[in-house]
Amino acid sequence: MKRIAIFGSGSGTNAEQILKHFEESDLARVHLVLTNSKDAGIIKRARNYAVPVLIFTSEQLNNGYVLEKLRALKIDLVVLAGFLKRIPGNLIEAFPDRIVNIHPSLLPDYGGEGMYGMKVHQAVVENEEEESGITIHYVSEEYDEGEIIFQEAVEIDLEDSPKDVAYKVQELEHRHYPAVIEWVITEMEE
Ligand code: GAR
Repeated sequence: MKRIAIFGSGSGTNAEQILKHFEESDLARVHLVLTNSKDAGIIKRARNYAVPVLIFTSEQLNNGYVLEKLRALKIDLVVLAGFLKRIPGNLIEAFPDRIVNIHPSLLPDYGGEGMYGMKVHQAVVENEEEESGITIHYVSEEYDEGEIIFQEAVEIDLEDSPKDVAYKVQELEHRHYPAVIEWVITEMEE
């Protein structure tokens, strides 16, 4: 059984799908949810699944405190689900190819620092893109630049608002992220 930790800063709808997916899995279980925001919706969602929550400061993320917590719980895979802080080098070194992220666009388009959530969808609509989508990738020290594991596109209609695009992209995220994490875990076991 692999042990998963989820990092998130916001509502936590993706985290919830992952919690649900692995609740009774033979492969892995979520053992910790971590957030940098004491008001994040992800906290309540984790508690609904009786999963412990760690709220941490930026200093604790960077000074090794968070890493120690992950080590103490023997975490095998770190999953970022709407986590908006940069992952420090100490975590990336400790979890090589063991940190995955989901981004709400078809990277390398609409990625990089400051490109997250609705900002992505607004830019996509402003540029009258005909499609957007999701990217699931390994995490490196640069925002949104790690090796891509999975992408899926969705069509955008001219009349779609940023909210409409967000809805379409979120549907893809919820459909694919748990399954792709499961695939990553299967690869780890080989
Ligand atoms: C998701 O759409 C995720 O792709 C995005 O934040 C949202 C979190 O929603 N992440 C980024 O933009 C990272 N650059 P959730 O909290 O409901 O899962």
